[in-house]
Amino acid sequence: MSADKRYESSQALFDRATEVIPGGIYGSKSPGFTVPGRFPYYFTEGAGCRLKDADGHQYIDYLCGFGSMILGFGNPAVDDPAVAQLRKGDLLNQPGPAMVELAEKLVDLIDGMDWAVFSKNGTDATTLAVSLARVHTGKSHILMADGAYHGSANWCSSNSHPILRDKDEVRTFAYGDASELEALFDELEGRIAGVILTPYHHATWGAQIMPPEGWHQEVRRLCDKEGALFVMDDIRANFRMSLYGSHTIVDARPDFIAMGKSLANGYPIGALMGTEELKKTAAAFFITGTFWTSTVPYLAALACLGEMERMDIVSHMNAMGRRLGEGLIAAGADAGYRISMTGPPAIPFMTFADDPDLWHNQEFSARMAAKGVYMHPHHNWFLSYAHKEPDVDETLEKAAEAFMEVKTVFGE
Ligand SMILES: Cc1ncc(COP(=O)(O)O)c(C=O)c1O
Repeated sequence: MSADKRYESSQALFDRATEVIPGGIYGSKSPGFTVPGRFPYYFTEGAGCRLKDADGHQYIDYLCGFGSMILGFGNPAVDDPAVAQLRKGDLLNQPGPAMVELAEKLVDLIDGMDWAVFSKNGTDATTLAVSLARVHTGKSHILMADGAYHGSANWCSSNSHPILRDKDEVRTFAYGDASELEALFDELEGRIAGVILTPYHHATWGAQIMPPEGWHQEVRRLCDKEGALFVMDDIRANFRMSLYGSHTIVDARPDFIAMGKSLANGYPIGALMGTEELKKTAAAFFITGTFWTSTVPYLAALACLGEMERMDIVSHMNAMGRRLGEGLIAAGADAGYRISMTGPPAIPFMTFADDPDLWHNQEFSARMAAKGVYMHPHHNWFLSYAHKEPDVDETLEKAAEAFMEVKTVFGE
């Protein structure tokens, strides 16, 4: 089937959307972020690790709602209590008891953290962390890694219009480059409120980078020397590296941890956690949003955490990710390609050697989409508890065909 016909309904919806929604679909979900014309633009259903698009095609999904689906789409253990609460009312005037229970649960679970506040999106949590770091230290500057994504807010987004960027007070350094970071600390001595980092570098483009030996300890040392705070943005890696916080895997000791995405298996909730020392500052800060106290996502988060604890989801997802990665490297090699898999196995990304513009990734992903596997060409992928061996093996069979097709397209 030609790409035009395959995505006919997606295209028709998109054409209608451009009349009434600026850009049709904006941000990281815009067609230009995948392979325009060769990817579905709209989805209608999800079950387990599979999605259905607006044209009725099924996909084994490796984007998992940009990481937020961790137990499977439509997981009844999460959805049943959430839907039951929905029928009784979601946004009530005041928070429900589940808000307290969730804070208690997270304080119990997440290593080194003593309190939690909640929001909707991850951007709310990272932005709040940066604000609290500035208020607590009385200093202005925030340091972040080049190419890091901490949300769509103007202070951190590289997609933001230059006139809106906080460029004088938010400075960047190369992830993992301790001497560059130390030089920035020297240059800005007395002005640094905090450093925000992800547990490993999932750059907005290309291969992912694990932290070099000693990196997070060096960040801690520099923060302590300056009296600055260390914010761990665990929003993307959350619960796929460890149930106790990804910082425990990379040996980091942050002051704040921002969370979101997989916390409630797709229900909208973000969280900022912090140490005892910062509790007073957080208590005095005006933190709110009309929908931040909706009860349903709290129940979903509690149920999701319960399921994640009950089953050994981290080792399952990482085992599936390893199976996928090893299979892709082998299938690529059969077609004559040198394939790299980067990042933790449960949050992998694939690149072809000598493909800096990701043209090969785009062709490969478009071919996989046509075969019913959703693998993003530019954004890292995610495994979930719902991905089982047969799903991964079916993916690998299709990948073997796709690599051969890519070879023909590029005449290699
Ligand atoms: C590391 C990281 N931080 C922050 C965010 C922002 O989260 P949200 O899109 O929920 O605002 C994201 C989203 O992709 C992310 O990956």
